[in-house]
Amino acid sequence: MQNRARVIVLGLLSLSLLLIPAIGRPAPQGEGQAPQGGQGGGQGGQNKPPAHPLAWAYAVPLEKPPAEPEDDGRVYHLPDTNAAFTLKQIRSNTDPVDWYPGDHPTMPNVVAHGDRPNGVQSCSFCHFPNGKGRPENGNLTGLSYDYIIQQLTDFKNGARRSFDPGKVNTSRMAGFAKGMSDEEMATVAKYFSSMKVTPWVKVVETENPPKVINVGGYFITAEGHDTEPIGNRLLEVPVDTEKTFMLRDPRSPFVAYVPPGTLKKGEMLVTKGGGDGKTVACAACHGEGLKGNGYFPPLAGRSASYLARQLYDFQHFSRTGPGSQLMQPIVEKLSEDDILAITAYLASLPPQ
Ligand code: HEC
Ligand code: HEC
Repeated sequence: MQNRARVIVLGLLSLSLLLIPAIGRPAPQGEGQAPQGGQGGGQGGQNKPPAHPLAWAYAVPLEKPPAEPEDDGRVYHLPDTNAAFTLKQIRSNTDPVDWYPGDHPTMPNVVAHGDRPNGVQSCSFCHFPNGKGRPENGNLTGLSYDYIIQQLTDFKNGARRSFDPGKVNTSRMAGFAKGMSDEEMATVAKYFSSMKVTPWVKVVETENPPKVINVGGYFITAEGHDTEPIGNRLLEVPVDTEKTFMLRDPRSPFVAYVPPGTLKKGEMLVTKGGGDGKTVACAACHGEGLKGNGYFPPLAGRSASYLARQLYDFQHFSRTGPGSQLMQPIVEKLSEDDILAITAYLASLPPQ
């Protein structure tokens, strides 16, 4: 299976190299080049909010996030587990909590505790012990061994960055890949590629989603019952704020709010390429049901904002690894609204 996928990728790669003229492409974004407006905003005393690409997807905080609740020594619980932790334990990034040890195989040391002498942080702190992660990092379940190794290699070689330099956790992720040995990469790829895929995000069309706040890299529903117009955004938030935000519950899922009509438009683009040569039906490479295969990662049921960032990163040559050459022509003509519709539709599909 893996060998077959490799042959297909290599075949497609050489085909795409023939088809895509190498010259005449926009130049890759320079290292550290801030998007217009950048972080901090408020340039030149204008009152206009800073322009920020797909702000709903990158979720780079423009102001200081609200302080997290203090640890008062209280011990917290979640359903269907005997585990009990204080907030201080829940926030440890060297010894991350494992609420449901029965949901996954025994974590290798680097997944559970990182490799501190080499600057590698515990994968499970951000991606959770079960690999599902949150929208600001990524869901590793359903990825193949080969694809994971390829991405870690791309991060390590500088071939995978975030378009938005304000998205500091992607730079940190690249730093971890640089610190990892080949053995560690093999170990983590084996662990995460063995993980079970289950539904993680629901997509809801609405004009007026709940008001959200940025808590330092992703959004949660603000307290109270206020709503805000959706505009042309996708807002992905935890279904249960307390479980995700305070307790880092790796079983508590997400909901993505999108404008009415989005899913129909997304379906057209994903299944037919939108007609008029805008893009190509995704299943040609990502497989039936978009469940992925070998070097082609799964797309169905994954975080919409994660997927949107990737499409934008491919479009702006922030992802330039070997596989990206197949994706660049796919995303070339997509508008930000197309990216919204495509990723909402993909997130709405059953992942299994
Ligand atoms: C500080 C948080 C953090 C930690 C710790 C972390 N990651 Fe990541 N990881 C990220 C972010 C952020 C991204 C990229 C998201 C983006 O750019 O949109 C990412 C992306 C990835 C991807 C790419 C997924 C895909 O679908 O292409 C892989 C694979 C990955 N991480 C593996 C790991 C492994 C293995 C470890 C442990 C050695 C680890 N990560 C530790 C934050 C983290
Ligand atoms: C010609 C084959 C091909 C087609 C068609 C294709 N893809 Fe891809 N796609 C790839 C490859 C290969 C990768 C892995 C890229 C890499 O290694 O960086 C990828 C990666 C991605 C990723 C990144 C996923 C992750 O885990 O980070 C997204 C999102 C994506 N594709 C979306 C789409 C969408 C949406 C379509 C249809 C509109 C599509 N792709 C059509 C080959 C293809």
